[in-house]
Amino acid sequence: MHDVPDVTSAKGVTLITLMSPANDLCFTCHDKSSDKVLHGPYAEGLCIACHSPHTSNYPNQLLTDSQDLCLGCHARARLKVNRWKQTVKTPWDVTLTFAQMQGWQFLNLNKTLTANHPIQGHPITGPNTALGKGEITCLSCHEPHHSKKPNLLLPNVRNTPQERALGLYPTALCETCHNPEKM
Ligand code: HEC
Ligand code: HEC
Ligand code: HEC
Ligand code: HEC
Ligand code: HEC
Repeated sequence: MHDVPDVTSAKGVTLITLMSPANDLCFTCHDKSSDKVLHGPYAEGLCIACHSPHTSNYPNQLLTDSQDLCLGCHARARLKVNRWKQTVKTPWDVTLTFAQMQGWQFLNLNKTLTANHPIQGHPITGPNTALGKGEITCLSCHEPHHSKKPNLLLPNVRNTPQERALGLYPTALCETCHNPEKM
């Protein structure tokens, strides 16, 4: 037997032996959304940055708990950035290039990574004391894949034209938890 080379060239066609499933493999069965706003890694077909192609201990075959997943790329304290190699590494050991991470942003969170987004002092983790039930997580306000709303916000969020003109926060989103009379 001979070793399987990583890259072979025959008749002008270069074959690369994949270390991981091709970026569009998952899209062969899962239709790509036609929404205007697509989450970077979803748009790139980098499903396996978040999902295991096999089984996993987390729902939806996620590589880790969904809150840790979001913080893994959006919290400065969690994502390992290698400026020399132009790569980032998540806490669950997925390495992506700067090109694949184009446009990513760190949130300006407190030390315990529990608050200060989308406004100073606002919780992103913990009991949803505003409603008195359930938990507050990134997915209380955001879609993980795609949305018709800017910033991947949940579909129930609608601003009036006046609010849009003033660049105000999507009131309907805030009102899913807060009573406008009291705000
Ligand atoms: C051959 C077709 C096919 C391919 C390729 C495929 N899937 Fe699926 N996937 C399915 C089907 C069918 C289901 C079940 C759908 C349902 O239950 O609604 C599913 C379900 C899922 C689920 C939900 C699992 C759960 O626990 O509920 C996830 C997540 C998922 N696929 C991710 C992926 C990812 C990531 C890839 C690429 C690595 C991928 N799929 C490639 C067909 C495919
Ligand atoms: C940034 C991380 C991330 C990426 C990238 C990602 N997903 Fe997901 N996906 C999630 C999370 C989080 C959930 C669970 C959502 C929930 O709990 O409501 C999920 C749920 C799912 C589900 C089950 C629920 C549903 O929406 O049908 C499927 C199927 C799925 N993903 C497929 C994919 C495919 C295919 C890709 C790549 C094209 C992909 N995901 C890319 C984070 C991601
Ligand atoms: C693998 C790294 C990675 C993970 C994990 C990840 N993100 Fe992102 N996220 C990105 C990148 C790259 C961008 C910039 C490209 C873009 O705008 O979508 C981004 C952008 C965003 C944006 C801004 C989108 C816009 O329209 O400007 C939101 C909101 C967001 N992510 C939320 C989440 C949430 C919620 C989770 C957890 C379900 C999550 N991210 C997990 C890489 C990641
Ligand atoms: C209470 C609702 C809420 C929660 C919870 C929330 N977000 Fe957001 N997020 C927003 C809103 C609203 C915006 C748009 C902010 C703006 O336009 O200034 C936003 C914007 C973003 C952006 C775009 C960059 C920015 O700062 O404007 C990213 C990335 C993001 N969120 C990621 C996350 C992640 C990751 C989590 C969980 C750790 C999370 N969000 C939790 C409401 C929320
Ligand atoms: C998923 C539920 C949820 C959503 C959606 C939500 N909040 Fe909150 N918010 C909370 C919780 C929980 C607290 C902390 C307990 C409290 O003060 O009621 C809080 C606290 C606050 C506070 C007080 C912060 C402080 O420093 O004490 C303000 C102001 C606020 N929210 C504004 C907003 C705005 C603006 C939006 C829309 C962008 C929004 N919230 C969306 C759950 C939510």
